[in-house]
Amino acid sequence: MKNILVTGGAGFIGANFVRMLLSERKNLKVVNFDALTYAGNLENLDGFMENKNHAFVHGDIRNRELIEKTIKEHKIDGIVNFAAESHVDRSISGPGIFIETNVTGTLNLLLCAKELGVKRFLQVSTDEVYGSLSPDEEAFTEETHIKPNSPYSASKASADHLVHAFHHTFGLDSVITRCSNNYGPYQFPEKMLPLCINNIRQDKQIPVYGDGMQIRDWLYVYDHCSAILRVLENGESGEVYNIGGSNEKTNIELVKTLLGLLGKDESLIKFVKDRPGHDRRYAIDNSKITNSLGWKPSVTFEQGIAKTVDWYLKNQSWLDHVTSGDYQKYYDKMYLNK
Ligand code: NAD
Ligand code: TYD
Repeated sequence: MKNILVTGGAGFIGANFVRMLLSERKNLKVVNFDALTYAGNLENLDGFMENKNHAFVHGDIRNRELIEKTIKEHKIDGIVNFAAESHVDRSISGPGIFIETNVTGTLNLLLCAKELGVKRFLQVSTDEVYGSLSPDEEAFTEETHIKPNSPYSASKASADHLVHAFHHTFGLDSVITRCSNNYGPYQFPEKMLPLCINNIRQDKQIPVYGDGMQIRDWLYVYDHCSAILRVLENGESGEVYNIGGSNEKTNIELVKTLLGLLGKDESLIKFVKDRPGHDRRYAIDNSKITNSLGWKPSVTFEQGIAKTVDWYLKNQSWLDHVTSGDYQKYYDKMYLNK
């Protein structure tokens, strides 16, 4: 593969991936296709917009004609699909756009990939498609049954099924990655970790849903990106790869860690009404990708979280920028009943 189409490359993980590809694969051309929704931001690509191996296309994966034109124009031979509506809370208040982008958008990409002979299609999926675990259940393997619980995870699971169907029916070379919760630079502060950092720095309360004992398995975003690259280059067609760092933390533990790192006390914690249908626990068994592709995370949770807090503190103008405007209205409505 020489010319890679990265969709959603102005969002959190996509931007980190584009930065990695342009830094670590100098022989590749990266075409970054992003609709720049509230979650996409060209500042996430600062220092890379002028890179000669990078072309940005302001495009929507719901627009099949534009995908087709872009693939032809740039002789695309690989697609990595990050583009998605990605926030569970938003999928509860408005599921429609999740189906349009995550399902129909993925179908458009698959149709174009099949028709135009793209060599490999990588679908960036999530552990949330497996549903929720009880405290003593085994971590998700690639064989765990799909049982999504939120409109977000249902839309991601539907997309995964389409990717599988295109492989099975049309022989499209495709791979699927299913990762656990990511943290790191450029994450939009509606998600738990940057939301906490953003609130703590302003002495604002942290809304903890329910009892705060829900468990997530945290992975540093750079390590998710390195796993995606490994699967893109060496994964076996038709296979699914789970990605995770085996760092299970309760939400309240995570909040307390962040308060400690930022030197604030627990009075900022505010327990609020639980998310409807809130998944209790996610955990990833990553033995397939570690054994078959030799991938492993580069940092421990403690190292990754310290680097992340440091990044947000050094980039407070980024936080100020992305939290101005529409996001502030959404946040006020969600948490402050304004
Ligand atoms: P994000 O919300 O930060 O970014 C999504 C990006 O997609 C944005 O740049 C947005 O502008 C773009 N986009 C949205 N709709 C689009 C459309 N119709 N056409 C083109 N671009 C569009 O999301 P993220 O956290 O970076 O997640 C990226 C992918 O990784 C998603 O598919 C998500 O399901 C998956 N994932 C995320 C996590 C996580 O912890 N964040 C974990 C596992 C998997
Ligand atoms: P989130 O970052 O939205 O990711 P996901 O729901 O995809 O796992 O949330 C992580 C966890 O934090 C999840 O259990 C919900 C919880 N949470 C809160 O307690 N308060 C909040 O304000 C948010 C956004 C999330």
